[in-house]
Amino acid sequence: MTDSIPLDATTTDIDDTTVAAPEAEAVLTAEEWWRSAVIYQIYPRSFADSDGDGIGDLPGITSRLPQLADLGIDAVWLSPFYTSPQKDAGYDVANYCDVDPLFGTLADFDAMRQAAHELELKVVVDLVPNHSSDAHRWFQEALAAAPGSPERARYMFRDGKGDDGAAPPNDWESVFGGPAWTRITEADGRPGQWYLHLFDPSQPDFDWTNPWVRERFHDILRFWLDRGVDGFRVDVAHGLVKAEGLPDWRASADAGSMGGDAGPSPYWAQDGVHEIIRGWRSVIDEYEGDRILVAEAWVEPLSKLADWVRPDEMNQAFNFPFLEVDWSAQEMKSVIDDSLAIFPGVGAPSTWVLSNHDVVRHASRLALTARNPQGAGIGPRSAGKPIPDLGIRRGRAATLLTLALPGSAYLYQGEELGLPEVIDLPDAARQDPTFFRTNGEKYGRDGCRVPIPWESAKPAYGFNTTGESWLPQPRDWADLARDVQSGVPGSTLELYRTALSERRYANLGLGRLTWLDGFGDDVLAFENNGVTVIANFGDVPVELPPGVAIIASEGLDEPALPADTTVWLRLS
Ligand code: NOJ
Repeated sequence: MTDSIPLDATTTDIDDTTVAAPEAEAVLTAEEWWRSAVIYQIYPRSFADSDGDGIGDLPGITSRLPQLADLGIDAVWLSPFYTSPQKDAGYDVANYCDVDPLFGTLADFDAMRQAAHELELKVVVDLVPNHSSDAHRWFQEALAAAPGSPERARYMFRDGKGDDGAAPPNDWESVFGGPAWTRITEADGRPGQWYLHLFDPSQPDFDWTNPWVRERFHDILRFWLDRGVDGFRVDVAHGLVKAEGLPDWRASADAGSMGGDAGPSPYWAQDGVHEIIRGWRSVIDEYEGDRILVAEAWVEPLSKLADWVRPDEMNQAFNFPFLEVDWSAQEMKSVIDDSLAIFPGVGAPSTWVLSNHDVVRHASRLALTARNPQGAGIGPRSAGKPIPDLGIRRGRAATLLTLALPGSAYLYQGEELGLPEVIDLPDAARQDPTFFRTNGEKYGRDGCRVPIPWESAKPAYGFNTTGESWLPQPRDWADLARDVQSGVPGSTLELYRTALSERRYANLGLGRLTWLDGFGDDVLAFENNGVTVIANFGDVPVELPPGVAIIASEGLDEPALPADTTVWLRLS
């Protein structure tokens, strides 16, 4: 619920000293920690590399956990580290209950989980239920078995159209480009059935109408719950169920669940998903503790997404409408208002997210000079490249606004360093299947996945000790390394630290937002648990109210808030 009160914003007599937060107290209750938690996404292959092979790993994560605890987060979410041929950076799982040797062993996972818990960090892992890898034993057995067999029934195999079955069963497109169907060669060498893959051909979709599939995933949940995880981020949580009869759909996969002129999608946001989620909830409820399910569901509008977080379903859903907002005060206000009405309306907290491993980093995205649809990425030949200085200013301003909102916030590794999207990756270095499936028309997501810099003077900026890196790191990242920013007032790292500490101290995650009027259309101003937040999206500096103490800002040195800046104040 939000409402609006006026604030006298006419005078400029401010005390511009930064007020340090008193020692952060554990204000988060042990119960329902997720309602207000700040959850930090670790992308394991790019976080920290202990063995120097250029790909991050679980021991690397363990070694850096104290620095995450020091940042002031509550939980980590790890993108997949399971056995995988890595055709889609681990979102192609060949064994759901083991660790890929690239990332370590199950013992390394246990050590990481234990170290995180000792630091009072919760651990959320990824669940990838829409598809497996084609290297998964279940799919290999399906290929070897005959059409109509129980093995084939685990996945979406269909006969092709036409007399010789040479045309795909329908017109669906893959999210990564090209058709969503691939024809197999049967065991006897003849051209055979087709299988559905909403993503890469190496990622065959499961058939979730099959109870066998449901049972296997209950086993997988129990396997990781037994190992002490605090929850699951559910990949493609809106895609598991496909419409009866697999009807044609004239839209491309990135048209979204509403499909524009083509009408609602036959594979996104089908109602049958909810029964599956309820089954998972009941498995999780067999376990002690407060363990969560988080939906990665690109579902519009927010009122429909709210169905994913009803009391007997998931705990949270990523708020992608918030992530997709342009740099516009009124658009942002509208999404915040909707979110704070709709999610609590079903008993869930809103989440807030600006960056992840699938989108252009927000320190670049907010200063793009042309439209860039999600997944398209940005590279050397792209039109509309971001304006770097503007991007980092807006990125910091957006973060400060976000971390003041009630609900749970997600951070993506490296955003606390102000990392921009890496644009100048050579084609030969790119690995995202999107780049290959679209013949380079879309650059894809590699630019937000480059290994992050820890120590400016070390090989690979401290990502490892050998200097290897699965994607090349930009030359100018030494200046952004964590050690260069740590303890430096005004650095992006210190801004995040201060904001996270104040957020915890003032319990903003469980607070209540009240809009403040009187600042004009290009400014958002609100109060939450005694903290006043003013964000200036416009060109004109905003005069600040009198007698205020600045809690967190981006280096204000005059009594007015410049363009593209957010400030947290305590009114005296
Ligand atoms: C969403 C994941 O975040 C993305 O990285 C992946 O490519 C697709 N799902 C397919 O699993």
